[in-house]
Amino acid sequence: MKLPVPEYILSLKPYVAGKPIEELEREFGIKDAVKLASNENPLGPSPMALAAIRQTAENLHRYPNSGSYDLCHHLAGLLGIGCENIVLGNGSDDLITMLARVLLQPGDEVVLPEPSFLFYEIVIRSAGALPVGIPLKSGVTDLDGMLAHIGPKTRLVFVTNPHNPTGTLITRQALDAFVEGLPANVVLVVDEAYFEFVNERNSPNSLDYLNSDKTVVGLRTFSKAYGLAGLRIGYGLMPDHFAELLHRVRQPFNVNSLAQAAAIAALKDQEFLQKTVQLVSAELAFLYRALDEIGLKYYRSSANFLLINVKKNADDVFRDLLKEGIIVRSMTSYGYVDCIRANVGLHSENVRLVTALNKVL
Ligand SMILES: Cc1ncc(COP(=O)(O)O)c(C=O)c1O
Repeated sequence: MKLPVPEYILSLKPYVAGKPIEELEREFGIKDAVKLASNENPLGPSPMALAAIRQTAENLHRYPNSGSYDLCHHLAGLLGIGCENIVLGNGSDDLITMLARVLLQPGDEVVLPEPSFLFYEIVIRSAGALPVGIPLKSGVTDLDGMLAHIGPKTRLVFVTNPHNPTGTLITRQALDAFVEGLPANVVLVVDEAYFEFVNERNSPNSLDYLNSDKTVVGLRTFSKAYGLAGLRIGYGLMPDHFAELLHRVRQPFNVNSLAQAAAIAALKDQEFLQKTVQLVSAELAFLYRALDEIGLKYYRSSANFLLINVKKNADDVFRDLLKEGIIVRSMTSYGYVDCIRANVGLHSENVRLVTALNKVL
């Protein structure tokens, strides 16, 4: 029997995640594979987060705190806002899903840069809404182009800052003007998954728009700089009346207790965060020099990854690198047929990437 599944669900393609290390090792019989495909923290999780997890594990027979009370208040104190401005999620993916559930109906439109983080499109289409992709200009989000495409059907706008997959940054001036020009009935999401890596002065911060007359939602995550991708925890920063709507559609226990405890500990471990940010900054400089020597083009990145033009079919280069034990991301699914994205690893891992690129190209 044919099930009454909407056409917009039948036409979806599942998200393809970065290849796990153990899968590559199984398939190729390789021992010391390196994964640079999902913009994770090469230093691992903070030791303080690990200790909090061990301690909290004793209470795993209890449901987690439904609103992530302690974590929410800890974050609110750090950010100088109220807990009512924060919604915690099972990764920022969870927040993206909640936003769509609150705002989108079939036929609505969502304006976003093209290419963007691929999960946005899945969430938009699974609500029956339509993505309106505005091509980047020289790797940078075209905010004027996006504004020009906001129409009566637009409910939601995504920008990612720094952008994924290019690592480029929007200037504060440009974002100020964009927010100013935004119709009041459109919600702007500023996805700041890589916020902690930004060291450019005067770069925008979604919090600066919290009290503006527009609805601006900032998204942040513990998956990248805080090294907790496997636990799944992220959060959204937004006006309290809008947070209240997200709480209506949120799963009651969407953030597990280990994640809540680990996130508080990770926030307290500023030394680990600094070490991570310094490693990424130093290793980006190393990669720039090495790529310049090979003669490969890339965008200078404000995040922990690089979009690299390999001047060849990216799927082929991805497969050749796998044989060298290195997992990167082919960007063909993002529309860049000759580009790969690789995140910054440990120095030894970055050396292996450069050596392998030299070999396979
Ligand atoms: C721009 C962007 N947003 C959101 C996410 C999802 O992060 P999380 O692990 O918090 O769900 C990612 C992960 O790669 C990302 O690159």
